[in-house]
Amino acid sequence: MNVEEMVSKLTLEEKAGLCSGKDDWFTKAVERLGIPSIRTSDGPHGLRTFDDFNVSNKSKPAVCFPAGCASAASFDRALLRRMGETLGKEAQAMDVQVLLGPGINIKRSPLCGRNFEYFSEDPMLSGELGAAFVQGVQSQGVGTSLKHFFANNQEYRRMDASSEMDERTMREIYLSAFERVVKQSQPWTIMASYNKIGGTYSTENKQYLTDLLRKEWGFEGLVVSDWGATHNRVGAVAAGTDLTMPSATKTDEDIVKAVQEGKLSESDLDSACTNLLKLVLKAIVQRKDGVEFDYEGDHDLARKISAESMVLLKNDEDLLPLKKDKKIAFIGAFAKAPRYQGGGSSHINSFKVSNAYDVASQFMAGNLTYAQGYQTDSLENDANLVQEAVAVAKGADVAVIFAGLPESMESEGFDRSHMRMPQNHNELVTAVCSAQPNTIVVLHNGSPVEMPWVTEPKAILEAYLGGQAVGEATIDVLFGEVNPSGRLPESFPIRLEDNPSYLFFPGENGVVDYSERMFVGYRYYESKKMAVQFPFGHGLSYTTFSYSNLNLSKIQMTEDETLTVSVDVTNTGNMAGKEVVQLYVAPKKGEIIRPIREMKGFEKVELNPGETKLVTFTLGKRDFDYWNINAQDWSVETGEYTVQIGYSSHSIAVEKTLQVQGKEYLEGMEYTLFTPLRDFMRHPIGMAVLEENFGKMLQGMVRIGLVPEEALAAGIQLGDQDSALMIQPLSILTTFVPELDGLPIKEILGEMNKK
Ligand code: BGC
Repeated sequence: MNVEEMVSKLTLEEKAGLCSGKDDWFTKAVERLGIPSIRTSDGPHGLRTFDDFNVSNKSKPAVCFPAGCASAASFDRALLRRMGETLGKEAQAMDVQVLLGPGINIKRSPLCGRNFEYFSEDPMLSGELGAAFVQGVQSQGVGTSLKHFFANNQEYRRMDASSEMDERTMREIYLSAFERVVKQSQPWTIMASYNKIGGTYSTENKQYLTDLLRKEWGFEGLVVSDWGATHNRVGAVAAGTDLTMPSATKTDEDIVKAVQEGKLSESDLDSACTNLLKLVLKAIVQRKDGVEFDYEGDHDLARKISAESMVLLKNDEDLLPLKKDKKIAFIGAFAKAPRYQGGGSSHINSFKVSNAYDVASQFMAGNLTYAQGYQTDSLENDANLVQEAVAVAKGADVAVIFAGLPESMESEGFDRSHMRMPQNHNELVTAVCSAQPNTIVVLHNGSPVEMPWVTEPKAILEAYLGGQAVGEATIDVLFGEVNPSGRLPESFPIRLEDNPSYLFFPGENGVVDYSERMFVGYRYYESKKMAVQFPFGHGLSYTTFSYSNLNLSKIQMTEDETLTVSVDVTNTGNMAGKEVVQLYVAPKKGEIIRPIREMKGFEKVELNPGETKLVTFTLGKRDFDYWNINAQDWSVETGEYTVQIGYSSHSIAVEKTLQVQGKEYLEGMEYTLFTPLRDFMRHPIGMAVLEENFGKMLQGMVRIGLVPEEALAAGIQLGDQDSALMIQPLSILTTFVPELDGLPIKEILGEMNKK
């Protein structure tokens, strides 16, 4: 029986029933037709699967991989794909058919309690890594749930606040990563978020769930509500939410009634059932028996991902890597009990957790000492612990402080109220640094922190929430077994107040106003030339890299053409290492308000000392365009664009400029008597009129004093975009230049406005 036949055999009650879960994790079965139920499970960085059907006991032991904040720092699509493949295999072993992840919401504010689960402030990075992860999981015959769609960028009032932004901001920033993943990887499901968008709950938002997601982007899978995000079952089905989770059987009746009363079309209900049945069949066909959960092997992969994701923020005098024959003091409770994952629905019952102290003890013998440094159940300073830490630090050649954010400060369900580390962590850093000049700070946190002490330690290693193997991974990096190659997937501002959303976060009266528009993260800091603690894309290595021979395949192109960019990257140091080649596009200032640069490509490459590799990128229209509200489409503004290769969003190594010709005049623009001439001439008809009448116009403008006579003498040209003439509206001419009286202006405008 195919899906269409199955739907035709379902009763109305059965159809309504299929649109909500059986319990917390399973879909409903229809035994009479042999339709089984399938299991979903969190997600995203490990399996949180329960023995019973509801969230009560601990989930089954599994492997906790690095959280999104960390794995994104790898800037490594292949690694994310591999993590996805492994999770897909684990899911098969646990008989899970849909893994609830990845979470790709944009990090608008460092305060969002769930930032640790998300990838980046940059939509391209979030989208590319999300797409790779989805491909990995789905290659194993297990579905994903791309979440949380969309504009769910805070935890405060996440169940009822309305995210409000203009369409351009939405398209360029908050939808863009979802668009990339949908188009590249077709996730089996997408999870509609809790919040409202423009006043309508995501789960009831037809404009986005159906018109955009399905019709415009071509999404073929199932839309599931976030758990408890459906407020109106009928509205949800009508809008395109196919499945409400968890169980909502009590309201299945609402759907039956609505169809009977003609308030919900049965074909909308049929679409929901069709999407559900397609998912069930796909999952069942690909279900594999006898797959073993390779706990130890997957732990090793978690270790590799964690090590590849660590970001070396600072390394004065090459204090790192550490030498094993030195006396080393590990300070801070996180050295023995690392903070390695976040709280909430992604919390994994890890089958084991490694810590840096135990791992180092195995080879450091008597050369490793330890001091706790701070209480883990308090944020206040403990003078005795600090004193002890200072003494231990003094007695060693090098001190390594393990600090960051305790779980109580960061979790799903609430946002942080500030960006500081706890007082007892900050004071410990300062006290130890003043006693021991060779101090390194290792940070465990899911989101940026202020570092009032940033100049004090010689080295800082951002380990993020590195998963259950973070202990081994930290030692791998500290001792140089692994050369750090992570790059910051988010900017670290100096202070919270510098963040562009600061004044508007977390909204008021149930409305979250995204007033900073597209200027999120580095798009803001770079455009404002504002100093940050560490920029987006930053990360050091134990070796160094240089760039040369940047080549653009053309210096002029139209928006329909593609551009090949190539650049040589060389390892100029003494150790093999990996560089993240970052490509940014910087438009020359035109009429459109734009960030100063935006990342449009990245590649991670491994290089031996002295080795050079050629890295190539292909750029097309979508790398130069912006969302044009008039045209309701992507447009390229004609002008100069600089292609930049950078070590970070702030540090550009090489750049070259080209001219890109767009067709932005085409759609959407409403031409009136008040349209400035420079816009008028973008239309071919407008251009022809201006060309024919330019001389007369110019004379008229000189006569009324709007164009100085000297400009006329200097030879003002049609197309002199910045000239006084070109910013005048047509009305000035028709009013003050009698020579143009015969011009059939109404007819001309009519022609130009024809759609
Ligand atoms: C979270 C989702 C999660 C779901 C199921 C919700 O509260 O927002 O990310 O997948 O619960 O646990």
